[in-house]
Formats: sequence, structure tokens, C-alpha cells
Amino acid sequence: MGSADRPRLGVIVASVRDARVGHTLGEWVAARVREHQGFDVDVIDLAEVALPMTTSEPHHPRTGQYVNESTKAWSARIAACQAFVIVTPEYNYGMPAPLKNALDLVSTEWNYKPVAFASYGGISGGLRSVEHAKQVVLPLRMVPILESVVAPMVFEQIADGVFTPNEVQQGAVKQMLDELSRVTAALRPLQG
Ligand SMILES: Cc1cc2nc3c(=O)[nH]c(=O)nc-3n(C[C@H](O)[C@H](O)[C@H](O)COP(=O)(O)O)c2cc1C
Repeated sequence: MGSADRPRLGVIVASVRDARVGHTLGEWVAARVREHQGFDVDVIDLAEVALPMTTSEPHHPRTGQYVNESTKAWSARIAACQAFVIVTPEYNYGMPAPLKNALDLVSTEWNYKPVAFASYGGISGGLRSVEHAKQVVLPLRMVPILESVVAPMVFEQIADGVFTPNEVQQGAVKQMLDELSRVTAALRPLQG
């Protein structure tokens, strides 16, 4: 748990492209989490953590027997969070490969932790990516929540490296964090 017994919320920035826009949304979500005051925040930028591929771990992640130091560090970082927001684009109607790898790399560390999504992209706002991710978080025993942030045509909302939310998104992020807070409290007894 974080300071003053506040749960720790991992804000996962899923895009690692050199020319990405996702980090601007990630920064905006993280700032709203700090404002909300219900969580400590860990911004987990997949472009910075440089995770190994699951192919280089010989054992099933459920065993927790990791051979790579970077996997061990990933395991500890995920275990230290009690909830997550995944900030994700949509690539070919699915989640980005680095996000899938990050989810697959460890297992029990995700168990019984609620997850919300802030998605973005073209006209669909990344919703198909979120549906894809929801299938994958189920066997990890994560609990996806309904409330979310959606940013269609995201590039129209970014200027000089800053994401400017509209009114709907401003309301949605607050509702998302309130619900995440409630569900996190309810799931705490099940978390290891
Ligand atoms: C490989 C690739 C596939 C994409 N596929 C989709 C898609 O299926 N749906 C969509 O709305 N946008 C798609 N896009 C456009 C992205 O929404 C847009 O490039 C966005 O900026 C990607 O997020 P990022 O810049 O944070 O990586 C795709 C972009 C890339 C690079």
C-alpha cells in the first residue's frame, strides 16, 4: 500500500512507438489521479521499462519462477499496485503487442486487481482494443470496470504534446476513478 494507506494505482502507457501520442493521455490520466487523491500513482510507461518477451521465460508465469532480472522487477512493480488504468491505442482492431507481452509476462501479480481503460484512436476511439484486452485480463483474474475514457480522433485533441480533454472525458475520468476506488476497496481482501 502507498502513503496514508492509499492503494497504489498503476497507469500503464501501452504505446511504445517513437512517434506515439499515448503518453500525452497517460500524463493527463496520471494528473487526474493525483487530483482525485484516492490513490498513489505509478506511471508505468512501457516505452521505459524495456520488458523481455515472454519467449525468454522458460516457465509458466503462474509459477513465479522468472529467470530475467527485468521480469523480476516487472513482477515486483505489478505486485506493488492494487489497481490499474491501461491507456491504450488500437492497432488493427486489437491491443498493441507490447501491452499483450506485458500482461502475459507475469500472472498472479495481476490477480483480483481492478482495471479501467482509457482508449484512443480513430473513429472507434480504441474500443475494439479494449474489448480485446478484456478477454486477456479475464484469465489473469483481473476485474475490468465499466467506466472508461474514450478519445476518438485523438490527434485532434493534442497540440504541442498536450492532450486537451473535452467535457465528456473530464466527467468520465472522475467517474472512472470513483468506481475504481470502490472496486479496489472491495477486492482488497482477495489480493495477495
Ligand atoms: C500499426 C498501427 C495500426 C493501427 N490500427 C488502427 C486501428 O485498428 N484502429 C484505429 O482507430 N487506429 C489505428 N491506428 C491509428 C492509431 O489510432 C494512431 O496512429 C494512434 O496515434 C496510435 O497511438 P500511438 O501514437 O500512441 O501509438 C493504427 C496505427 C498503427 C501504427
